[in-house]
Amino acid sequence: MDRIAITGGARLEGEIPISGAKNSAIKLMAASLLTDEPLRLTNMPRLADTRFLGKLLQRLGAEVIEADGADGPETVLTTREIVSGFAPYDLVRQMRASFNVLGPLLARSGQAKVSLPGGCTIGARPVDLHLQALEALGARIDLHEGYVYAQAPRGLKGAEIEFPFVSVGATEHTLLAAVLADGETVVRNAACEPEIDDLADCLNKMGARVTGAGTSEIRIQGVSRLSGATHAVLPDRIETGTYALAAAMAGGEVRLTRTRSDFIQALLDKMVEAGVDITPHNDGVTIKRNGARLNAVEVETDPYPGFATDLQAQFMALMTLADGESVIRETIFENRFMHAPELRRLGADITVQGGEARVRGVDALEGAQVMATDLRASVSLVIAGLAARGETVVNRVYHLDRGFERLEEKLGACGAQVRRLKGDGEAEED
Ligand code: EPZ
Repeated sequence: MDRIAITGGARLEGEIPISGAKNSAIKLMAASLLTDEPLRLTNMPRLADTRFLGKLLQRLGAEVIEADGADGPETVLTTREIVSGFAPYDLVRQMRASFNVLGPLLARSGQAKVSLPGGCTIGARPVDLHLQALEALGARIDLHEGYVYAQAPRGLKGAEIEFPFVSVGATEHTLLAAVLADGETVVRNAACEPEIDDLADCLNKMGARVTGAGTSEIRIQGVSRLSGATHAVLPDRIETGTYALAAAMAGGEVRLTRTRSDFIQALLDKMVEAGVDITPHNDGVTIKRNGARLNAVEVETDPYPGFATDLQAQFMALMTLADGESVIRETIFENRFMHAPELRRLGADITVQGGEARVRGVDALEGAQVMATDLRASVSLVIAGLAARGETVVNRVYHLDRGFERLEEKLGACGAQVRRLKGDGEAEED
């Protein structure tokens, strides 16, 4: 297994171009199942997760062609016909978002058999809201031996759906199914994340009639068929926030380009409160920090436009060296503090009780061997390593590869000492 070694202490100076958003790209790829024409996605991130979903889509009947376009990496997906409506456990288990093929399969071919995803390290993550929404759209859903058997032989029908709480995945899944339903669907208490807007935008280019995406009420006027389209994946706000926090942790001045600062306003407000200099610009944001110690600030994760749960671990890393005590509340996932014990191995002073972590700033962190437990947790350890004395080695970096494109290269270009240690075939300790 590969590992990432970070030698701490280098200031970061330079520019980091931000890639297309993983969490948008994988839903957009699933949307390609809704049409028999090519869907061309530009600004595509090249990640383990997008490669993985590409393989699943191929099994379902898609032709997936990757190319280097004029404006960076692109992927063209064409599903002339659905050759299989089956997404097996092994594939869905490895990447939960594979579950999102259920809605498009059902909408296009009237049936699907898709494995339930099960839990993951950050929480139980049920999909009950997804299934309730599909049932409201007229699908017959049966659960049997870990699989969802879904049928809508006479097609889906528009419905009024009100979610009891905000779910990004359930909102997206409803969109992915309702665009081909007969009549109007209204989604209330919808998630407002920029990725929802991006999906709606792409679907509209394909001929769908979606309004209100990005607000809590979305209206979808069903159409009988969708066509191909070209769509640029929006910039990855979590990658943007992660590098903003990396720059703040290491000190120096880093310009983040090809992105949007408004997507991470809640984070930037907290960083300003902590004492980091932030300058938004047309193409992104510049992060600057001189040598002064940062202030400890309180943070609570919330659905967009609140502070993103996907930036909580990275923010905790920053707070390990702040002046005073920071309280970090996680309200989205019930088990998303797995990075805390690993940060403690670097010398951080963190106590966790339920959904609340208290981080008392220490004078210095010291490099150590640590273990990645999930995607965002792993990158929080890289961030901590940038400011730790000596060498930090992050094990199990396959988590990192799922969602951060060319991380060593991007940080290295700004002067960070980050290198990948190729796996030696040793078994991973568990
Ligand atoms: C998406 O997950 C993202 N994943 C997550 O990013 C992100 O943390 C999350 O949204 C919140 O922003 C992708 O886009 C692939 P939810 P999702 O449905 O859609 C509960 C990363 O690191 N819930 O908004 O699964 C759920 O358990 C990942 O890139 C139900 O109870 O999140 C959670 O507590 C991690 N029943 C809460 O709702 C349901 O049917 C919000 O989850 C659905 C969700």
